Amino acid sequence: MAVFLTAALLTMACPSMAFDMSQSTRCVAIPNQMKVCKDVGYSEMRLPNFLGHSNLEGEVVPRSEDWRPLLQTGCHPQAQAFLCSIIAPVCLDTFIQPCRSLCVAVRDSCAPVLACQGHSWPEALDCDRFPAEQDICLSHHTKFNHFTKDLPKPACQNCPSVEEAPATKRVLDSFCQHDFAVTAKFHRRRQPMGEPEYDIEGRVEFIRQGPLLPYDTRHLLQQWLLINLRCANVLVRPGRSQLYVLTGSVQPDGTLALTFLFTWQKKDANITVATRKWKHHRC
Ligand SMILES: *[C@@H]1O[C@H](CO)[C@@H](O)[C@H](O)[C@H]1NC(C)=O
Repeated sequence: MAVFLTAALLTMACPSMAFDMSQSTRCVAIPNQMKVCKDVGYSEMRLPNFLGHSNLEGEVVPRSEDWRPLLQTGCHPQAQAFLCSIIAPVCLDTFIQPCRSLCVAVRDSCAPVLACQGHSWPEALDCDRFPAEQDICLSHHTKFNHFTKDLPKPACQNCPSVEEAPATKRVLDSFCQHDFAVTAKFHRRRQPMGEPEYDIEGRVEFIRQGPLLPYDTRHLLQQWLLINLRCANVLVRPGRSQLYVLTGSVQPDGTLALTFLFTWQKKDANITVATRKWKHHRC
């Protein structure tokens, strides 16, 4: 019975990958350099992994880095678990693949982000390859879905217009025309060392708060930068920071759209005057 069960599990777990447990596999500690899976919740992985990679230093670890820009966007709460189950499968008696439903959930959330960064969903992660059975595969937890439902979400968008040296009236008009206006300093690391290349330096100050939440906005803008990498590349040069006044709106579907950005240099009195006038301004 036990033998039959194992054989059945294996057949179901490996429908199309032609993966054979009788092939020699080995367990290794997930190395520290494999940052994307280091804190995934288990410490040993099996090689070769589901991509067929067996060379830890030459292949598995360096290729795992390709996924970091996507995972850093927080595109799906189970994206890391899904990805690591493929590139660093947990070392148990049998291979545990992700369920097809998990793959579909992660793909539906993360493929648009990947597309925004200029990549398509890889064929190796084609969800049809993964088992539909819920009980022998890594499943999708729907409980993750509701609690963030009502917060504004960053999304892929056309890059916002950037204006330098605007007139005071132009800035005030922009505050009137959009849901929110904030100041934020975008920072770009020259050499990202395991940290995101882009982040928000210091505090985000509200000029017009609109539908934004005070405790969530810095994180929201940070995720926006990591998703819209191509816009971020234009907005701030390597090794630099740039202070902006950002105006934008929250769309009916809950996604954030940045519309106008004004670069704010210290000597730019027009923006300073606009932010001061705003308190008493009538649109
Ligand atoms: C301030 O606005 C005026 C127009 O109102 C414009 O001529 C001037 O160039 C602006 N100055 C700066 C520093 O942006």
